[in-house]
Amino acid sequence: MSMIPQETIQRVVSESDIVDVVGSYISLKRAGANYRALCPFHTEKTPSFNVNPARQIYHCFGCGAGGDVIAFVKEYENLAFAEAVQRLADRAGIRIVEAEFDPQQEARSKLRRQLQTLHKKVAEWYHFLLFKKPAAEIARDYLKRRQISMETARRWQLGYAPDDTAPLLDWAAEEKFDHRLLVESGLAMWRDETEPRRGIYARFRNRLMFPIASEFGDVIAFSGRVLSPDQKGGKYVNSPETILFNKSKVFFGLDKSKRAILKAGEAILCEGQMDLIACFENGIENVVAPLGTAFTEQHARVLKRNAEQVVLCFDSDAAGYKAAERAFRQLAQANVLVKVAPLPPGEDPDSLIGKEGAELFHERIENALSFFDYQINHLSAGMNWESLRDRLEFARTVSGNIALVKEKVLQDSLINQVSTRLGVSADDIRGLVAESARELDRQSRSSARAPSSDDEPERPPAFFIRDPTVRILTQILLRNESARKELASRPLPAYLGEIPGTQLLARLWTADFDASSPHSVSACINTLPETFQPLAAELVAEEIPPLDLNMAEACLLKLNRRALRNRQNEIRAGLNNLNLPPAEIQRLTKELLDLSTRLKDIPPPKTTGG
Ligand code: GTP
Ligand code: MN
Repeated sequence: MSMIPQETIQRVVSESDIVDVVGSYISLKRAGANYRALCPFHTEKTPSFNVNPARQIYHCFGCGAGGDVIAFVKEYENLAFAEAVQRLADRAGIRIVEAEFDPQQEARSKLRRQLQTLHKKVAEWYHFLLFKKPAAEIARDYLKRRQISMETARRWQLGYAPDDTAPLLDWAAEEKFDHRLLVESGLAMWRDETEPRRGIYARFRNRLMFPIASEFGDVIAFSGRVLSPDQKGGKYVNSPETILFNKSKVFFGLDKSKRAILKAGEAILCEGQMDLIACFENGIENVVAPLGTAFTEQHARVLKRNAEQVVLCFDSDAAGYKAAERAFRQLAQANVLVKVAPLPPGEDPDSLIGKEGAELFHERIENALSFFDYQINHLSAGMNWESLRDRLEFARTVSGNIALVKEKVLQDSLINQVSTRLGVSADDIRGLVAESARELDRQSRSSARAPSSDDEPERPPAFFIRDPTVRILTQILLRNESARKELASRPLPAYLGEIPGTQLLARLWTADFDASSPHSVSACINTLPETFQPLAAELVAEEIPPLDLNMAEACLLKLNRRALRNRQNEIRAGLNNLNLPPAEIQRLTKELLDLSTRLKDIPPPKTTGG
């Protein structure tokens, strides 16, 4: 099934020492003959992740993850098998000559490679324009105003996106990147999606461009800032999600700051990329910034791999408080210690460093408060200390957050701290914490995805498919464009209405999308009702052998047969009813005969699969 010859895989494995490879991602400590670390695949406090150099395997006693060097890279970087082999081969300087051809796998890897090349080259081009083009004067002036030196602009490969689309089109034509790829990358959009001949237009126009890099330094997306206040669109525009770019786990700057974060065991979390650059350029290098999106569970896991502790540097307004609380909730659940460096109103790290210098800003970081002190300070501003009810209400909010702290010793000390500060007995607080903990437990058991914060609206239960045949058929629609096209050209078979779990299938059958374009698939998923989205995404991502039209036909026959059988059983049960009028008995008997004829017309099942 693999398209890489077995010998090549063996060679890649034998030339990739597992200790070197794993050690380049996470920090390993020697433990006798083995190496040990905190497991990158689940959250834990004591290391149960082991690397065995003699056997060249890793294993986590905590979560059971394990395998060889390829499995590690595959899991850690979330790659397909062949992509993981490719990455290791690149590292070891081995050239892979592909053997058997796996069209689906190949198309995906090809698109990934094309997008990587495109991003790399267009970043260079934007960067070149920033320095060389007269039209980029406005961007150069802007950098001056914000006191960004040329050297800094070079280090971050900042760029300039021209005011109109033509230069991008000319450049792409010269570099032989076609329109479809530009759209796929998010750099451009169709003028009319149903009419590609009408051409494309650039997403980023007259903007200061920040390349967004993966943890490993490859450009995977862009963020573009407006240069004049009267410009249309948001202050920042980011690339859409692509197969390279997953907003909910990418941090701006992590490729550059990772080393400093690992060394300090601490990450400073700012809100914006300008803040991050200002910190970094002023010697505070252990910084990260999410991309204007809310801080997610995945973000927390990425940070957990690199740091024990996070200092939040958010705005001091209401939105900043909310963002801090949200980040706290995610980080606490990932077992990361959270501190907050409160900033004066109206300031962010960038503006503060400009005003008071890096030294004083650094002091703010050093003097960061525990999240709980910060929260109590913030909440107490607007409350009436005389009122026991207010104090209890307050205690309830804080206890809800203490309940998220997993370490019991830490939890106890927090309970005591809060009790002292609030003048509420420790036992009362303990009671509230226990109550919140039970509530959390209940939530996480009732749904795999517990709402991450109390004020989030309750989600409807996620849709799922029990039946493997329905599942595969749904997957074919999402993953094989030629099969999808063929199926979509036929009317939706009525018998599917008799089969449970086919709601998503029915929607996809009639949806207008291109299964060969990840962009189009994700756009389609986004238009589905929310209950369908997690499953649809899972069906797209699951690693399974390629699926084709023949399999779809087999699935359809099987479901057709099942629907007919179900109906037969229903009728037989009905006929047991002794009170049926003779005419009805006759009608049902005829239908029964009819059903067995139709069943005979359907070719018998092959002896494969469930
Ligand atoms: P500067 O004004 O350039 O200093 O940026 P900032 O980081 O101070 O901006 P702000 O505090 O308003 O926003 C913080 C971060 O949110 C930014 O760095 C962006 O990543 C993101 N952001 C801000 N405005 C927008 C927007 O209009 N659209 C999107 N997608 N993101 C935004
Ligand atoms: Mn700013």
